[in-house]
Amino acid sequence: MIRIGLGHDTHRLEPDRRLVIGGIDIPHSQGAVAHSDGDVLLHAVTDALLGALGWGDIGEWFPDTDPAHAGADSAHLLAQVVTKMHAAGWHVINLDAIVFAQLPKLSPYKNAMTLRVAELLAIETEVVNVKAKTGERVGPVGREEALCAEVVVLIQHQHSE
Ligand code: CDP
Ligand code: ZN
Repeated sequence: MIRIGLGHDTHRLEPDRRLVIGGIDIPHSQGAVAHSDGDVLLHAVTDALLGALGWGDIGEWFPDTDPAHAGADSAHLLAQVVTKMHAAGWHVINLDAIVFAQLPKLSPYKNAMTLRVAELLAIETEVVNVKAKTGERVGPVGREEALCAEVVVLIQHQHSE
């Protein structure tokens, strides 16, 4: 039994905010506007998993109206979903991601992001792929107004191995 999941996320960028992508703190003049730490990649990973599992979406699990999630570490939110996924007998086969950012240049951080995502999902780094794209200077991403991420994930149930 295998299932596919799709995740997408967008965060607005503003000066003097923290920029965390894939669990990695990245020095930049702008950061994500968010109730949590605004990690666009981990939010899309979480939504992709929830989608594959048929478990709704991140906003249902961790409402941004809940003060308990203010400034929340997105890795911690993802870890809660991963724990429940494992308990239900599912594991990740592979994950592919795209982070859309005009700036900063993400290539120096891609390796660290890949390692962190693999660690959070308890899988080998070889089955995690993180890509980066600019917005070609058009649209909200291209004008450096926003960051986006897209993720697809494949999961397998232990009884189908
Ligand atoms: O060349 P193409 O139009 O397909 O892509 P691009 O958006 O111009 O990005 C070119 C390359 O820059 C990407 O393949 C990424 O490896 C890298 N990139 C990056 O390191 N950091 C970003 N924020 C965006 C892109
Ligand atoms: Zn988000």
